Formats: sequence, structure tokens, C-alpha cells
Amino acid sequence: TEPSHGAMVPTLKGYACQRRTPLQHHNALLTDALLVLAENAEFCEDEGRSVAFRRAGAVLKALPQAVHKMEDLQGVPCLGGHSQRVIKEILEDGTSREVEMVLQSEQYQAMKALTNIFGVGVKTADRWFREGLRLPSDALNSGHKLNHAQQAGLQYYDDLNTPVTKAEADSIGQIVEEAVQAVLPGAEITLTGGFRRGKPTGHDVDFLITHPEEGKEEGLMPKVVSWLEARGLLLYQKTNINSYLEATDGPARPPHNMDRFERCFSIFRLERPRASPEQHPQAVGEEQPQERGSPLGRRASESPGWKAVRVDLVVSPVSQFAFALLGWTGSQLFERDLRRWAGQEKRMSLSSHALYDSTQNRYLRPCSEAEIFALLGLEFIPPSERNA
Ligand code: GTP
Ligand code: MN
Ligand code: MN
Repeated sequence: TEPSHGAMVPTLKGYACQRRTPLQHHNALLTDALLVLAENAEFCEDEGRSVAFRRAGAVLKALPQAVHKMEDLQGVPCLGGHSQRVIKEILEDGTSREVEMVLQSEQYQAMKALTNIFGVGVKTADRWFREGLRLPSDALNSGHKLNHAQQAGLQYYDDLNTPVTKAEADSIGQIVEEAVQAVLPGAEITLTGGFRRGKPTGHDVDFLITHPEEGKEEGLMPKVVSWLEARGLLLYQKTNINSYLEATDGPARPPHNMDRFERCFSIFRLERPRASPEQHPQAVGEEQPQERGSPLGRRASESPGWKAVRVDLVVSPVSQFAFALLGWTGSQLFERDLRRWAGQEKRMSLSSHALYDSTQNRYLRPCSEAEIFALLGLEFIPPSERNA
């Protein structure tokens, strides 16, 4: 039977990849609260609960209007009992006691601060928390053995926790373009991730690199990295080489998040534009990055003429480009639901490399994002509406 819909709500579908989710939406108070609960569940390594809260938040982002009362949510999918209780409390009281308690808890605050260190995931942060660490500076002073990523994460903590602007992403794009053209003329770079979805800022900058002639892209990443390193543009890099083989990694391999492209996690040293207040006005109310406490105690006056910026580079053969583009554009929940839709509704297996049809026992070979949506029986959702 058809669910009964509140007056304001058109039919919202159950998978994020079936919905249009713009960047700007009308329920930030509710989605911010649910995000806190999702993060907290993640910090407690309860992935199921974390995803449930994220799904609830995502569906609220797709609503065309602000929710004022519980009846407005009639027929809206993906809202579990727990999420509904939290929403109800916020609608009635303005805040949720549970969310406020989490925000004030020592564990949440410490886990948030520690996982904000590049190179520190939930597992490491949780171990450090149980050993008594609370702040990034504790990780520096405790004598813990830190890997290279974590050392860089601490060294550039303030910069890496200052949002990257679109202007900075474009500057990085010019550098990457120059590097790629220098080592492989004709190669093409595409901005992916949050910036492709229209976000004005991001935690990093994501690029996909390919070459129109299949095979030419092989071995490209180390050359790009060498070019950048020779010019002092990299503060940190870790390159993984491509290991994807259709024959062995194909249908049997679960369509998991991790892919096997040639890929580089890096930190760029981006020259700051020279101070010129007219040309680079500070947005009203925007926090000056230098004013925040640094674990290294760097002061505003010591701020160098450059900024550390996280950059992800991925190289894809042109035959897999559409999958890589779709897979690296996000959002993460949108990707998760695409794969879930493929598996549960279509008996297909989708990854950032391929689409396999288990009913026909063969690979499908779409050449564009639009063709992938069509093969999955989904309406095409443009990147700007994948902000689930
Ligand atoms: P911000 O960077 O915070 O602005 O958001 P974002 O959406 O760009 O997130 P992020 O850079 O973390 O990831 C971009 C997209 O790449 C998301 O859809 C992720 O799911 C995806 N992604 C991240 N890591 C991997 C990976 O190892 N493999 C694949 N296939 N996708 C990944
Ligand atoms: Mn990103
Ligand atoms: Mn990224």
C-alpha cells in the first residue's frame, strides 16, 4: 500500500541515489544533530548505528522544506525510531539532550580532536584515548611512535583543519595540470570529490587523471610525484600502485570502498597569494586559521607564506574512467547507496572499476556516468545533487 504523505513531501525514495540532494537544504539544525550521533557511533565502532544516523540525516537534506512538526515527516523513509525521537525532541525543545551530552563528553571531544589528525583513524584514536591522550599535542608529547602520515598530520594540523577554498583547489588544479602535461602530454585531469558536487570548501582536493589512449596512463603517478617533489611542492606523499585485474578482482571481489587505482595521498605546499586586502577579502565571520591553537604552538605572526593542503590524486585507465569519476565524486553515502542499490535491487556489482551483471554473468561497459545510471535503472542525478 502507498504510504500516506504529509502535504509538503513528495515521494522520497529509500536509496540516496534515487533522490536529488542539493548542497543547500532546509533542515541543518536536525542534520547537524544527527551527524553528531553518527560520528559518536563511529567513534564507538558501531558502523550500523552510524550509517543509520547518516541515512536519516541524508533523507532530511532531500526535503524541499524545513520540518516543523512530526507530521511533516509522514511517509519519509530511512527514519528509525532513535532518529525520530531525536528529531521530535529538537522540534519541541530546540535541542536534544542526548546530542548535548555527546557534544560535552570527554570521549567525543577527544576522539574528534584526535581523528582530525591526518593519518589517525578511529582505531588509533580510540587506543590513544584509552591510554589517556586527549589532544593532538598529547600525541606529540607522549612519546608515542608516530608513522610518517601522523607526523605530517601533527606538523600541519592547523592548516589541514582549515577548510580548503575553491580558489585554493583551482590553484592546486593548475599545478597538477602543469605536472601532468610535463610528464605525459595529452593526459587529462578532472576535479572530483566535494568540489565537483559544488561545495565551496573541502577537507582536501580530489583529482582524477586519465589519458584518452588506453595504457598511456600506466606508471604515470610516480612521474607526477617526482615532478612535484623536484619543485618542492609536496610536504608529504604516499603512492599506491595500481593492482586491479579484472580477471581476479572482478565479480568475486566485493564492491567495497577501497579501489585499486594508482593513487597518491599527499600534502601540497601551496603558496599563499600575496596579501592584498582588496583582492582577497576575508569573508565576514570567517575564522582566521592562524588564530587557532596549534599543537606546535605556532603563532599568527609566524605563519609562513604557504599553506599545507591535502590532495588526493588517482590515475584511471580511460576504459574505467566513468566508474572512477562516479566513485570519486561522492558523497560517501551516495556511493554507498549506489552499490547497495546495484546489489540488492539489480543483482549487479558496482565498483570504481567496473559494473558486473550477475544475472547475465557479464561485465557491462558503459562509457559515461549517465550510461551507468541508465544501466542501473536509475534516473541520472547530476553531481550537484549527490550531496547526500
Ligand atoms: P571533502 O573532501 O570533505 O570536501 O568531501 P569529499 O566528498 O570530497 O570526501 P573525500 O575527499 O573523502 O572523498 C571523495 C569521494 O571519494 C567520496 O565519495 C569517497 O567515498 C571516495 N573515496 C575516498 N576514498 C576512496 C577510496 O579509497 N576508494 C574509492 N573508490 N573511493 C574513495
Ligand atoms: Mn574531498
Ligand atoms: Mn579525498
